[in-house]
Amino acid sequence: MRLLVCGGAGFIGSTFARQRVREHGDEVTVLDKLTYAGREENLRDLADDRSFRFVRGAIEDSDAVAGALAGADAEAIVNFAAETHVDRSIADPDAFVATHALGTYVLLEAARERELRYVQVSTDEVYGSIEQGTFTEESPLAPSSPYSATKAGADLLVQSYFHTYGLPAVICRGSNNYGPYQYPEKLIPLMILNALHGDQLPVYGDGMQVRNWIHSTDFARAIGHALEHGHAGEVYNAGGPDEEANIDVVRRIIALTDASESQIEHVKDRPGHDRRYSLSSQKVRALGWQPRMRFEQGLAETVGWYRENSWWWEPIRSGEYRAYYERQYGRALG
Ligand code: NAD
Ligand code: TYD
Repeated sequence: MRLLVCGGAGFIGSTFARQRVREHGDEVTVLDKLTYAGREENLRDLADDRSFRFVRGAIEDSDAVAGALAGADAEAIVNFAAETHVDRSIADPDAFVATHALGTYVLLEAARERELRYVQVSTDEVYGSIEQGTFTEESPLAPSSPYSATKAGADLLVQSYFHTYGLPAVICRGSNNYGPYQYPEKLIPLMILNALHGDQLPVYGDGMQVRNWIHSTDFARAIGHALEHGHAGEVYNAGGPDEEANIDVVRRIIALTDASESQIEHVKDRPGHDRRYSLSSQKVRALGWQPRMRFEQGLAETVGWYRENSWWWEPIRSGEYRAYYERQYGRALG
């Protein structure tokens, strides 16, 4: 297929682009604004591939979108482009509204005009928190942060384009991802790099919040299944095989890095912090997908990747991220 992958310079989008070029023989054009989280380094190994192109531009810029689609001669749009960090959405929601609402609208209009297939990449966070049981595609949307609320808004807009205009669109909602190339503002890479550097390990509140972990290669494959086999107008949840409390994730990372339990510091809880996420994946499993990576193995491999790829994270840890860290955690990185 010929694909326009929006937000493909980020963590999961770059994983998806790599998979589609290498394993499916697709022609992939990435359109990405290169925010603080978007990095061409994430696509370094694809840069010289004839099946791959990179275009810098924002999804809310209709001219940039039109140009990228023409250059790609695209048959489908897969939209990963987003602001993705809950804590940043609490501190400054502005870009979340612009990218998720306006950006998604511009892409939907472009897809409608050209009769393209459309995949919206979304999150389990649109369902809110669940103390017991698991969310299905039928669960009501009850987002609680500016991040998840604007993602839910984008999902509703996508569904309206199917109902109103017959746009062949699907939505794929993932649970918490982990793996190589994840920006170290998120729990797992933050804890790995802090553990390796002897920094504090800042656990929000009691650390008993539970997340449902999926390896980024598994989520990327689920999105590929939704793209190839999903029915227009449908939502597909892709949850990982394992759930774990944050404090236990941190303890695993301590064991894998030979860090010390004394580095753990319980810090002020996140406002409106969702207690637990859990996602059933029966519908996407019926399309032939299943997760391949269990958390124990995937986490060990991820720690190994961060150990071996300092070229990737050193520029981050010495740049803007330091100022962000100080604002968020009230102390400097060591
Ligand atoms: P990320 O923050 O690593 O990457 C986001 C990418 O989008 C970056 O390359 C950034 O430059 C780009 N971008 C942001 N705004 C843009 C704009 N206006 N125009 C063009 N490009 C823009 O995020 P990620 O973790 O790879 O997440 C990708 C998608 O998957 C998001 O839609 C997110 O909501 C969803 N998702 C993420 C997770 C997770 O755990 N990370 C879980 C489920 C769903
Ligand atoms: P995060 O990676 O931000 O993903 P999300 O909020 O989208 O689930 O956080 C995962 C969990 O880890 C969440 O419960 C918040 C918690 N957390 C900490 O305890 N400390 C931290 O420094 C961070 C970034 C997250």
